[in-house]
Amino acid sequence: MSAGWAVSVEGVVKSFPAVRALDGASLRVEGGEIYGLLGPNGAGKTTLIRCVMGLVAPDRGAVTVLGRRMPDRAVLREVGYMPQSPALYPDLTVEENVAFFATIHLGGRADRTGVTRALDFVDLSTRRRAVVATLSGGMRQRLSLACALVHRPRLLLLDEPTVGVDPQLRADLWRRFEEMASQGTTIIVSSHVMDEAERCRRLGLVRAGRLLAEGTAAELRAAAGVERLEDAFLVLSEAAA
Ligand SMILES: Nc1ncnc2c1ncn2[C@@H]1O[C@H](COP(=O)(O)OP(=O)(O)O)[C@@H](O)[C@H]1O
Ligand SMILES: [Mg+2]
Repeated sequence: MSAGWAVSVEGVVKSFPAVRALDGASLRVEGGEIYGLLGPNGAGKTTLIRCVMGLVAPDRGAVTVLGRRMPDRAVLREVGYMPQSPALYPDLTVEENVAFFATIHLGGRADRTGVTRALDFVDLSTRRRAVVATLSGGMRQRLSLACALVHRPRLLLLDEPTVGVDPQLRADLWRRFEEMASQGTTIIVSSHVMDEAERCRRLGLVRAGRLLAEGTAAELRAAAGVERLEDAFLVLSEAAA
């Protein structure tokens, strides 16, 4: 049952013309936890995140978010999404981008305080009047995060937020994710980098559209009888094949 979970995905199947992207994926995420979706390219992580948001309709199975069966437009107001490639308006300023997302989510209730708070949170206040096209890649990544959280979502979906990001910014982003989780935000973050997995409270290992295993990094290593999470992934993949 979905009661008590912030997110529950039950037996979701999603096929595209050439491929079955999700093949009976199930997972459960608790409120306030950082849940990592780990898996190689093509495993189905992005499709799974889109199903959680209701952007992609499953062929079979059910997705429940914050107690509501998805898709549900009302729930979207509670959800923040940082897509794999930043969806920003290059001709607009930093501030205008954040204000745009605030307006989409909050309508007439959007205010400048929220925009300022989001920009402060990602350390971009001093660049608020800069046009996005002039920003570095790292700044765009932080701006993309500000756009995803400006409406104070209860659930934050981060699709490979640290790909192509230098180690310092990566650590910096993770510090912010942890701060948000400590304040009660539920976070689902996808990655194909195993060293990030240790920072998640629980993990789901994704392969070929299914969850191979779920648990803490320590539980997954113990289940596979290995010391490194990377090896656990391989052992559990083979066991499931
Ligand atoms: N909109 C789409 N149309 C067709 N195929 C898609 C679409 N989205 C994803 N796929 C395919 O589904 C599979 C899983 O993709 P994806 O969910 O993006 O995996 P990941 O994020 O783990 O790399 C891949 O084979 C991909 O090519
Ligand atoms: Mg992806």
